[in-house]
Amino acid sequence: IPVEDFDLVVFGGTGDLAQRKILPGLFRRYVAGQMPESARIIGAARSDYSDGDYCDLAHDAIVEHVADVDRDKLSAFLDQLHYIAIDAKGDKGWGELKDLIRSDVITAFYFSVGPSLFGDLAERLHSHGIADRDSRVVVEKPFGRDLESARALNRTLADHFDERQIYRIDHYLGKETVQNLMAVRFGNVLFEPLWNQHYVDHIQITVAEEIGVEGRGEYYDRSGAMRDMVQNHLMQLLCLIAMEPPSVFGSDAVRDEKLKVIRALQPVASHEIVRGQYDGADGMTSYREDVGDPRSHTESFIALKVHCSNWRWAGVPFYLRTGKRMKARSSEIAVTFKDLAHSIFPGDEARHRNILSIQLQPDEGMNLQVTIKEPGPGGMRLIDVPLDMTFADALGPENNDIPDAYERLIMDVIRGNQTLFMRGDEVEAAWAWTDPIIDGWEERGDVPKPYDSCSAGPEDAMMLMHRDGRRWRDIKA
Ligand code: BG6
Repeated sequence: IPVEDFDLVVFGGTGDLAQRKILPGLFRRYVAGQMPESARIIGAARSDYSDGDYCDLAHDAIVEHVADVDRDKLSAFLDQLHYIAIDAKGDKGWGELKDLIRSDVITAFYFSVGPSLFGDLAERLHSHGIADRDSRVVVEKPFGRDLESARALNRTLADHFDERQIYRIDHYLGKETVQNLMAVRFGNVLFEPLWNQHYVDHIQITVAEEIGVEGRGEYYDRSGAMRDMVQNHLMQLLCLIAMEPPSVFGSDAVRDEKLKVIRALQPVASHEIVRGQYDGADGMTSYREDVGDPRSHTESFIALKVHCSNWRWAGVPFYLRTGKRMKARSSEIAVTFKDLAHSIFPGDEARHRNILSIQLQPDEGMNLQVTIKEPGPGGMRLIDVPLDMTFADALGPENNDIPDAYERLIMDVIRGNQTLFMRGDEVEAAWAWTDPIIDGWEERGDVPKPYDSCSAGPEDAMMLMHRDGRRWRDIKA
């Protein structure tokens, strides 16, 4: 179903995110028939481009990032593009933008720029009468680097927009399987009764990346894995796993429940967190080489154990782990259920456990480990087998064209659906939990443990689990 007609202005329209995600994503939605023919995408940035130059840039970006581009469709899509050279801190371009924007369609402003420009852009959008009370504004992470700066950003946005107009993107919420997590939990009778401390032993969340810092060294070295991944993406995954069922699938109902989870997270003691930094191996550069600082103490890996102190989760540890340059790109949430109370099968010493693993990427799907009898005449011997629900197999190739997180989220902005976006109070609560951890490292002068590139992270991360009598799941390609 096409969304309503809109004008979308992408500030930072020539930047990396616009080229890699926003323009290709919009094109794919166009091809899917979701973008009205009259909708317009207006790139706005400092460079003195013409509409034609911008179309050339968009053309190249789309050809690079979208498979099997239909040339006719691409040229029709490019007709919907415009460009305005604009000065975020001055007057240039704003009158022109005002003339271009239609007043009778949905207007959305994507701030694909550094947070230091949010205030300038918001102010000019209002002083030039471009944004109105129904306009939407989209902002990206990093949303602050601590509680104080996140609060300041929230205040800046709140000076110009109501919370219902603000869409803070965490692209993990746009991933297909992440949303499926809610469908599985709240659309089946099977899991929810077991989803608590009576039946769950522990939960693991792993987001492993193969890539290193990839030319983003300057940003990354000031952030590290905690700010770059844990405070936002892993926190959002944890919220969806741990939250109470909302009464409806609506934006505030869902976000209220997520907020309660974040607020229930206990502080993490220093011995329950392991920071790592990748070393070079086999001709691969080390983290320190990648960021150009031989003494950097920034972590490219983190593993931690956290508890959520409420009735549902009391005593159930959540183990979180993420890192760059690990042995495979693989993100997974695994819910390990408790041991059987009593086994009736004589001689069966093995520990059989049900594990529900939700694979986020690659190969989205789910897998439930169940115990069955080993086929054959050998008596009642038990084995564990997977009930495999890889979506590509289960749903067939025609349902295999999963939209990228960004394209889904941008369409949600136009639809006015904030469910998959972070509310200001959620972001602040996440920083309030993260800040003391980072402050602790700074006070202690903590140095991350080295780990080999293409490994599962530092030894100490293994110990974090082993000393609780548990093991991390394999990171499989
Ligand atoms: C970004 C981080 O938010 O997410 C990157 O800044 C990281 O460092 C990326 O590589 C991971 O996203 P995805 O979708 O590739 O898992």
